[in-house]
Amino acid sequence: MTRPKTAFPSRRPAAMLVGALAVALAAASPALAQEASPQASQTQAAKKPNIVIIGTGGTIAGAGASSVNTGDYDSAKVAVEKIIAAVPEMKEVANVKGEQIFQIGSESYNDERMLKLAKRISELVKQPDVDAVMVTHGTDTIEETSYLLNLTLKTDKPVVIIGAMRPGTALSADGPLNLYNAAVVAASPESKGKGVLVVMNDEIHSARDVTKSNALKVETFKSLYGPLGVVVESKPYYYRLPARPHTTATEFDIDQITALPKVDVFYAHTSMDPTILKAITSNGSKALIYGGTGNGSVADYMEEPLKEVRKSGVIVVRATRTGSGQVVRNGEEKDDENDWIVTADQSPQKARLLTSLALTKTQDTKEIEKILYKY
Ligand code: DGL
Repeated sequence: MTRPKTAFPSRRPAAMLVGALAVALAAASPALAQEASPQASQTQAAKKPNIVIIGTGGTIAGAGASSVNTGDYDSAKVAVEKIIAAVPEMKEVANVKGEQIFQIGSESYNDERMLKLAKRISELVKQPDVDAVMVTHGTDTIEETSYLLNLTLKTDKPVVIIGAMRPGTALSADGPLNLYNAAVVAASPESKGKGVLVVMNDEIHSARDVTKSNALKVETFKSLYGPLGVVVESKPYYYRLPARPHTTATEFDIDQITALPKVDVFYAHTSMDPTILKAITSNGSKALIYGGTGNGSVADYMEEPLKEVRKSGVIVVRATRTGSGQVVRNGEEKDDENDWIVTADQSPQKARLLTSLALTKTQDTKEIEKILYKY
């Protein structure tokens, strides 16, 4: 079902000419300004970028019982139109329109919901009157949704994902300024071609590198190698560029993807139950991301069960549970002998998505590992 086209101020030359005349008249005579103002504001509006803000829920749409509730609140309650109306300053930056696609805590995202969001964004960025798309999203899984978008959207238009760590009802709520800053970034020509961006706490992060590093803090979003830039006084400042292929430069096209091959994640710890891996061999999973300790290490009592997973036809990918760092092939494990794959620097949750995308292209373990190292 394609949704109706989003109506923004006209950019037709005739409309622009009428508006420009109105602006000239208004400047020449205050008395005329009154009559001219609708056209004048039309011209001003037509000059600003058109941004669609897709609401999906999360804390940015949350509400607490009192202004001092910053961690105890209901998430995914407030409609995107209301969130937009709470930040009228955005009108100075862009023409914005809201669209509600979900109203959920982002812990409840699944592949189907991520694909639905990605496909809607793909539809919107094809519209000539849409210059950028923003998404309000729960912070728990922003890093996964934005990573998938970064790998599969075929656009160089800015796509900016925003969340909040405190509900709008809280003292020092962070959502309104995050939303305004995201509009500043999405409206900036400098943001074109930089891949999907996550704007939180005055920082501009690449979807490839960003992760939520703390359960509650406003400064929770960190990037493996630092943010791409910052927003200061309504202006984005970029200091780095994404180093890996994204959006239009990848082999994955969201318009060609109908489903993501099932990939599970296992988180290693002391005293694991080896039988837990048995389920992986019979639940339809195509791959298992083994979030190992340290350099993706596999406990001695887990080696045979993990080899059985591979022998059952399920791809095995060694990742690290540490939160950063590359996993070294054939370092502490016999990857060649076991036909196991190692991640580059992806977290287990991001390795899951990239492995799933790789499986839409190949079942060859060497080719899959190349894809993990390419992106
Ligand atoms: N339920 C969490 C989520 O939707 C709340 C966290 C947040 O949005 O900041 O991700």
